[in-house]
Amino acid sequence: MKIVVTPRGFAKCGLDNAKIIEDAGFLLEYNNTGNAYAKEEFYQKTMDADGVIVGVETVDRAYIDAHPQLKAVVKFGVGTDNIDVDYCRQKGIFVGRTAGSNSQSVAETAISFILADSKNLYESIAGTRAQGWSKLTGYEIAGKVIGIAGFGAIGKKVARMAFGLGMKVLAYDPYALDPEAVKRYEVESVGFEELLQRSDFVSLHIPLTPETRDLVSMRELKMMKSTAVLINTARGGIVNEEALYQALRDKTIRSAYFDVLSHEPPRQDEPLLTLPNFYLTPHIASRSKEAEKNTADMATQIIIQALKQKA
Ligand SMILES: NC(=O)c1ccc[n+]([C@@H]2O[C@H](COP(=O)([O-])OP(=O)(O)OC[C@H]3O[C@@H](n4cnc5c(N)ncnc54)[C@H](O)[C@@H]3O)[C@@H](O)[C@H]2O)c1
Repeated sequence: MKIVVTPRGFAKCGLDNAKIIEDAGFLLEYNNTGNAYAKEEFYQKTMDADGVIVGVETVDRAYIDAHPQLKAVVKFGVGTDNIDVDYCRQKGIFVGRTAGSNSQSVAETAISFILADSKNLYESIAGTRAQGWSKLTGYEIAGKVIGIAGFGAIGKKVARMAFGLGMKVLAYDPYALDPEAVKRYEVESVGFEELLQRSDFVSLHIPLTPETRDLVSMRELKMMKSTAVLINTARGGIVNEEALYQALRDKTIRSAYFDVLSHEPPRQDEPLLTLPNFYLTPHIASRSKEAEKNTADMATQIIIQALKQKA
């Protein structure tokens, strides 16, 4: 059986796994081009694959129908919104993900955004590079309120770090926040509206699903403090970007730090990128050597087990 691995992180940080896959009796092809596969390339390279480890490539009905030999799809990461999980199930295709493999890195990114905003780091460094010496006044993080939406692997790590910085931590998760977790992580469990109203920082750590699409729209942005910062390291589409543009332009909220956008890379005329209080990184929250190694190790084990069961 053949396994194809498309994410570049495998070649960069997880190559120990090539031997493990081959020793387990599989043929292996992985992406060592340094570039993401274009759609046609992805279709073609995986044409005879029994299992694929994918990044952000779209695994929809069309892809699944075009690859009838496929038995297992494993996400090199945790968000499976690019995979038609229901259709895979219907076709008997195993779907896996590397739960928790990159949670430390993503949590650190969310916290970095808070630190950057509070000390005006981006403006100050850009200012000195431009020969300026303007002394902006920031604010302290200790004592501020962070609202964490989604209390899974990443949300929990953000909670721990924020608590360590002296922040008050609110959490919202209708599926995973039990009294034991509330106590262990020293958070206050609140409803989503209360989280929006009380937080100085709102940090999103939920999956993109039909339920969470546009979860934060104008109504929700208006509930936030005018000094609040919105952080999205989860997925584009959870925040309605037209509403966000208006809210940032009109100072309904202070600023937004995003690692993700509904269209990646952004269109050349993306309005959000014209705003001085919108900060975007190119979907790098999980890109640390450690996270990519963890992810490659976990994805390897998951796909080997899944395909052995199908043999
Ligand atoms: N930017 C990046 O590079 C990057 C990397 C990893 C993950 N992510 C995104 O972050 C998300 C969270 O990752 P994780 O590892 O913590 O996943 P996880 O599955 O461990 O946790 C997700 C949590 O969200 C909760 N949830 C689901 N629907 C919700 C809703 N409507 N309201 C509130 N909570 C809800 C779930 O109960 C769960 O506890 C992923 O789904 C992924 O899309 C982004």
